[in-house]
Amino acid sequence: MQPQRPIDKAFMLQTIELAQLGTYSTRPNPCVGCMIVKDQNVVASAWHKYAGHDHAEILALHQAGENAKGATMYISLEPCSHQGKTPPCINAIKASGITRAVVAMKDPNPKVNGKGVQALQEHGIEVEVGICESEAYAINEGFFYSMENQRPFIRIKHAMSFDGRIASYSGESKWITGELARMDVQKLRAQSGAIITGMGTIKHDDPRLTVRFDQWPEDVCHLSEQPLRVVLDSKLHISPSASIFDSDPEKVWVVTCNSDKSKYKAIEDLGAKVHYWPDKEGNHVDLNTLLKHLHAEQIHNVLVESGGRVAGAFFENALANQYWIYLSPTLLGDEGVPVLKLPSVRHFKDRKQLRIKHTAQVGEDLRVILET
Ligand SMILES: NC(=O)c1ccc[n+]([C@@H]2O[C@H](COP(=O)([O-])OP(=O)(O)OC[C@H]3O[C@@H](n4cnc5c(N)ncnc54)[C@H](OP(=O)(O)O)[C@@H]3O)[C@@H](O)[C@H]2O)c1
Repeated sequence: MQPQRPIDKAFMLQTIELAQLGTYSTRPNPCVGCMIVKDQNVVASAWHKYAGHDHAEILALHQAGENAKGATMYISLEPCSHQGKTPPCINAIKASGITRAVVAMKDPNPKVNGKGVQALQEHGIEVEVGICESEAYAINEGFFYSMENQRPFIRIKHAMSFDGRIASYSGESKWITGELARMDVQKLRAQSGAIITGMGTIKHDDPRLTVRFDQWPEDVCHLSEQPLRVVLDSKLHISPSASIFDSDPEKVWVVTCNSDKSKYKAIEDLGAKVHYWPDKEGNHVDLNTLLKHLHAEQIHNVLVESGGRVAGAFFENALANQYWIYLSPTLLGDEGVPVLKLPSVRHFKDRKQLRIKHTAQVGEDLRVILET
């Protein structure tokens, strides 16, 4: 393996930064950036904006024009070699006169996985793979996880008091955390293909669970499409007047264990979908079935914004990948609603160990990201 050139690392870090501009708009596609450099001068820089639109490589080649001849292309993800909604990028790269390609990582998507790199090499282009690989992986973690595991990457989020409560004794939780933490959650929502909640939260909080795009600076977000919102409602008790149906009701799924289809009409008349996916006992929604269907919809990132029961069920079924806690310097007392509903642990040795991935202060609150 050749030693990495510092200049490649510097250009690749810029390319990854460009890719991140697509964080809120490219789904279900991953974020990808591309730069073309000739004689150490950047002649093109582009990023993939929307699924179905030109990939970053194509946009950069258009910018570079004749300058692409003999230049180096930096790409944060292996270029595609298959026909998707747009033609394969490798054809355009091969035709452009690019002589060297630096690729941060191979695409784990089975339709690509090494084939893009191989096609470029067979064409005589010098290819280097693995420059800033971990940085490139991190910006598309959910996408890669979903490709490798055939189910979405699950983030659970809670706003929690310092004494481990997510609501007061009477069930009120608005607002445990400050404005900046709530804006942070908006970003988390906007990068998720689906948001899951439970009937407990619908009853107590009546949330909309939408992204308030009107409150976003234009240069941060290039998207106005709401994520799918999913309500776990075993008995089908949700009211058609629940606020979750207020905007884009066709992007709401209600998942139930109630097989009486005559009860679905009031919800389906709003444009929402009712799905019957009970667990073996028929008491609760089967989470694995739900995730299988979300995966089929190309949803790679899921945010669980529920109370302790649904969140606890994700942990119990070993389905939680990350736990985002916004810790507020408040106390809600002994009988406040506990953060997770989990079976008791009698012996200390049987405790579940999580790992702290990241901490940051967000306004007056603390954000802790844990990995399972
Ligand atoms: N601070 C925060 O971040 C935050 C966020 C959200 C909620 N909350 C608070 O949490 C409280 C509600 O907590 P909660 O635990 O009752 O609400 P929840 O977790 O949102 O909903 C629980 C309900 O979901 C339904 N469900 C369907 N399938 C399930 C499954 N597989 N596993 C678990 N539940 C399933 C069950 O009701 P059915 O049997 O009727 O289907 C269950 O009782 C409220 O006070 C709310 O304010 C706080």
